[in-house]
Formats: sequence, structure tokens, C-alpha cells
Amino acid sequence: MPENSAIQRNSPSPPGQLLRHATFRQLQVFEAVYRLGSFTKAAEELFLTQPTASTQIKKLTEAAGISLFEQVGRNVKPTEAGTHLYQACRQVFSALNHLEVQFDELKGLKRGRLRLAVITTAKYLTPEMLGDFSVLYPDIELSLKVTNRDRVIERMSADEDDLYILSQAPDNEIEAEIYPFAPNPLVVMAPKHHALVGRKHIPFEEIAKEPFIIREPGSGIRDATQRVFKDAGFKPKIRMEIGSNEAIKHAVVGGLGLSILSLHSLALEGSEGPLTVLDVEGFPIWRQWYLMHRKNRELSFVAKAFLRFAIQYEIKIRERMLRTWPGLKLTEEHEPSVAIQR
Ligand code: PGA
Repeated sequence: MPENSAIQRNSPSPPGQLLRHATFRQLQVFEAVYRLGSFTKAAEELFLTQPTASTQIKKLTEAAGISLFEQVGRNVKPTEAGTHLYQACRQVFSALNHLEVQFDELKGLKRGRLRLAVITTAKYLTPEMLGDFSVLYPDIELSLKVTNRDRVIERMSADEDDLYILSQAPDNEIEAEIYPFAPNPLVVMAPKHHALVGRKHIPFEEIAKEPFIIREPGSGIRDATQRVFKDAGFKPKIRMEIGSNEAIKHAVVGGLGLSILSLHSLALEGSEGPLTVLDVEGFPIWRQWYLMHRKNRELSFVAKAFLRFAIQYEIKIRERMLRTWPGLKLTEEHEPSVAIQR
């Protein structure tokens, strides 16, 4: 078939004619003919016979009601209408390409895996947060490692997880992207029957006389506790070292000593449980969590989605924190600084 059999005369067309009669395949052939300037080359590129390509353009020209190409020697040249149609095609194809990327993202999201490593205080919120996240994305595989600060930093150095929750930025050479997250106040916990319960503004020196239960080396809470004692000029009377916040709570209830722990560790029992928060001068110590990932780690779609989700979740954590201990004032003065703690 000669190439020019697809080249038609102009004729008026009813409104909507192009949309109703043109097919996506015709537009693909048209785009290739326009770009390559030849029916034969377009047919080759699309693995069609040349007559099939010609027929597609003929039908498209009928639907358009206006010539799209004119014959110039052995090749074809687009008409003005052809050029307009080509621009429209580019827009349609680029929108579809973009959609394809978005679909891939969605597919990635549905099948992906999310690896998190968090310090022990974040275990009081991360499982619930993951629960709510997995309602939105039910097929994602989740892995959560809960351990102390030093171990989380080791995992970060080894690039083992997508995202991390820490209370301080790592002070070694790991380059991290850091997002300030919810408050993580540290409080002095005592059993409900303790002699200091009910006292207001207890001076720290009175607290320092009490036996203390402290976390294991490598723990951020241990470091924070030691810092408080040092800054106040006291040495803690350490009765016991325990590598678990929950076990420390039990030891406090058992009368083995007081402890400085995150208020979030009371998330389930709140003020109804056997532990109470003492009103000690200088407390709570307003710390904060940070969401982090290694700078050079290309985050998966799942990890990006979770990061966005977690940042929006912060408000829920603050609300829950106030419910945990309604007496706690979260005034502006007590808002944790968003500056990165090193
Ligand atoms: P840790 O960190 O589990 O290392 O004690 C907890 C925190 O800093 O809040």
C-alpha cells in the first residue's frame, strides 16, 4: 500500500468524534509516524506491517476529520493539525507513564517489607503505630527490633534497617537524615506506697539518697540518669542493674529502689497501676525521639510511606502521653527542643 493512502482530505467532524472513534493504538502509531517521519519505520518499530500502520492512521484521520500528514517525496510531513495532535499525544503518554510509576509505587507498597529498629522506650508506641499503618497497607511485612541505644546505633552503622527511632543522634560518623519526633519525658518512678508519694517539688538530693535501679550499659536512659546525678553533684546508690524497662518497673513495685524511666513505659496502666510518678524538682526531663535513616540509604516506597505516616502520628502520641499521666503539663516551656541532641 502506498504511504499516502493514509492521507485524507479534511472534512467537518461532529463534536466528540475523536474521543469516540480514535483508539489508543492509533495514537501510538501516529506518534511513531510523526516522530520517525515514515510509515515504514513506524511499522518496524511497533512490529506491525506497513499496511496495518497505514490503516490505523487512516482511521485516526477519519476520526479527526482533518489531514494529519502530507506526502513529501518518499516520506510524510505532519500538517498543523498533526502537530497539535502530536503534542496532545505526548501529554497523554507522559500522564500514562507517570501513572505507571505511581502504580509501581502502589504495588511496591502492597508487597514491601519494612524494617525498623527502635530504642526500648519507643516499643511503647511503635507496635500500635505499626498496627494502624498496616490497616492502610495490610500486605506489608513488618520487622521490629527493640534494643538499647548502642545496639540500635550498631544496626544503623551496619545499615540493617530502613528506619530507626532514637532519643539522640548518633555521635559517631554515621551520616543520618533526622526527623524530630514525639516527646519522650523521663520521670522518677516509685511504688504507690513509697514515703515520698504525695510530696510536692521534692528536692533531687532527697531522691539521691534512695537506692536506684538503673538500666544496662549501652542504654540511653542509663546515660541520662547518670547525667542527672552528675549535674546535681551526686552519685547514684545503684542497687541493681537491669536490662529491661519492664523488669525495672517490677523491681520498683517490689520495693528494690526508685528508677528514672520514660513516662511512656506507663502507657498501658497509666495512673491506675502500682507505680507512681514522683514530683521531683527538675523533672520531667524533656527528651525527644527522632526518626532517622542513613543518608545514603535509598528508602523504599514502604519506608517513605511509613516515615510520612509516623510523622503525622505524633499528635496521637502526645495525646496518649497526656492521658497516661493527666497531671503532666505539656506547656510551651516544656516542649522539647527540636534541636538535635548529640
Ligand atoms: P535505651 O534508650 O533503650 O537505650 O535506654 C531509651 C531512650 O533513650 O529513651
